[in-house]
Amino acid sequence: MAKKNILCIGAGYVGGPTMAVIADKCPDYRVTVVDINQSRIDAWNSDKLPVFEPGLAEVVARCRNRNLFYSTDIPGEIKRADIIFVSVNTPTKTFGYGAGKAADLQFLEKTARSIVEYADSDKIVVEKSTLPVRTAQALSRVLHANTKGIHFQIVSNPEFLAEGTAIADLESPDRVLIGGMETPEGRKAMEEVSAIYENWVPKERIITTNIWSSELTKLVSNALLAQRVSSVNSISALCERTGADIDQVTAAAGRDKRIGARFLKAGLGFGGSCFKKDILNLVYLCEHYGLPEVAAYWEEVVKLNDYQAKRFVENMLGAMFNTVADKRIGVLGFAFKADTGDTRESPAIAVCRQLLEEHAELFIYDPKALENAKQDMIGYQKVHFCEDPYDALKGVHAIVVATDWQCFKDLDYQKIFDDMEKPAFIFDGRNLLDRKKLFEIGFNIYGIGKKPLTKF
Ligand code: NAD
Ligand code: UGA
Repeated sequence: MAKKNILCIGAGYVGGPTMAVIADKCPDYRVTVVDINQSRIDAWNSDKLPVFEPGLAEVVARCRNRNLFYSTDIPGEIKRADIIFVSVNTPTKTFGYGAGKAADLQFLEKTARSIVEYADSDKIVVEKSTLPVRTAQALSRVLHANTKGIHFQIVSNPEFLAEGTAIADLESPDRVLIGGMETPEGRKAMEEVSAIYENWVPKERIITTNIWSSELTKLVSNALLAQRVSSVNSISALCERTGADIDQVTAAAGRDKRIGARFLKAGLGFGGSCFKKDILNLVYLCEHYGLPEVAAYWEEVVKLNDYQAKRFVENMLGAMFNTVADKRIGVLGFAFKADTGDTRESPAIAVCRQLLEEHAELFIYDPKALENAKQDMIGYQKVHFCEDPYDALKGVHAIVVATDWQCFKDLDYQKIFDDMEKPAFIFDGRNLLDRKKLFEIGFNIYGIGKKPLTKF
């Protein structure tokens, strides 16, 4: 008999890996992940997992069909569960009131309604999805509109994992945040959720707060991280005008412990499914609560991010004699960051689309994200997807580095240079490659926030 039955609704980037690690660390619990998407569940039950994350396949292999199950039996698993994590998607609303900023909570509400429909005993419902502050109130109202006399305790437990390092983040989190209602039942529910993490997370890293603080902390954490990236990217533009070097500036500024060295890497701008949507959600909330100045402050972080990708393409055009029409451009990387196949909101999308508007022809290579890239570029002509980096770069006029995959450093750039049109350009949108070495080979190399090294 399992000590507790844990259910997670939503088998995505968060639900899948998070529950795998919980199952791995808590062999006494029975952990099930359900989804309405049959093919996603089939993939979780196969050798080809729907999410690429270093270390994930090993964790799943250890636990699957032992105390970790992936299923589409949503009614049966809701009945069986003691604790239900809700990890459904909460994208930006694309229609109606609040379109373009507010969170679309339809998936959350549908999940709540399924819980009400199928539950036949009291349960703890855990908000794992990223949600606007005060969602727990609405959730509670939907859940308690049941006539079965069932009671639900709502706990907020936002997830802070980053893609590409999800397993390491889950196994050794900086903190686990648990927010609950300030009642005896609320505190008991928080303790039950805490007990899960205490199987492997030191207690001093488990923070408990009131439920509204927990909900808001998740949005604020992402906003602060994204703000750092936009701050550095804004300064990268100034570096390019003044001869300062962004990596030197951030390395020296980051030595101040109050600033810290991490998350100061200039690039094409932040991508990923969450930073933009969560900041826009924060902006919407500030507007909703009558704080237009606060809303405008945070909205600027997103605007600066869009500007960075636009600026990059403008720099390319300037360097390539103001035209890329009919020029072939090899694109190294399409994922929004290294070590993931995820392309959601990848800055590569904006860069590629702008280049196509300028009538360039693109040859895209990515070690993990090619299938998603094809979806993102549906409807565009003159774009090719290459399984091999050398195929993508053969005969091109310019190379764009769009993702910080470390394997791009190890390519044979002499061979690539020999096969390219001249003058040969590299636009390193991640400041990843060894620019001095490339310059010596003969490339004209442009980075972000750096003086270009050119032959003319
Ligand atoms: P995702 O789109 O990968 O997965 C969500 C899953 O929920 C999908 O498989 C979908 O089919 C399923 N779903 C939707 N409605 C359902 C329903 N009614 N019943 C059952 N299943 C349903 O999303 P994700 O990236 O895992 O993100 C989930 C949440 O976690 C979001 O709120 C996101 O902001 C947050 N988050 C994401 C990350 C990340 O790195 N991706 C990190 C931290 C937090
Ligand atoms: C981010 C947060 O780091 C997680 O804590 C959070 O849980 C998650 O969002 C979420 O809520 O979805 P993620 O988007 O997976 O994680 O990846 P990050 O490592 O944060 O990178 C985000 C983007 O910023 C990437 O495009 C990355 O290339 C870019 N970035 C990051 C920079 O341009 N410079 C940096 O210094 C750091």
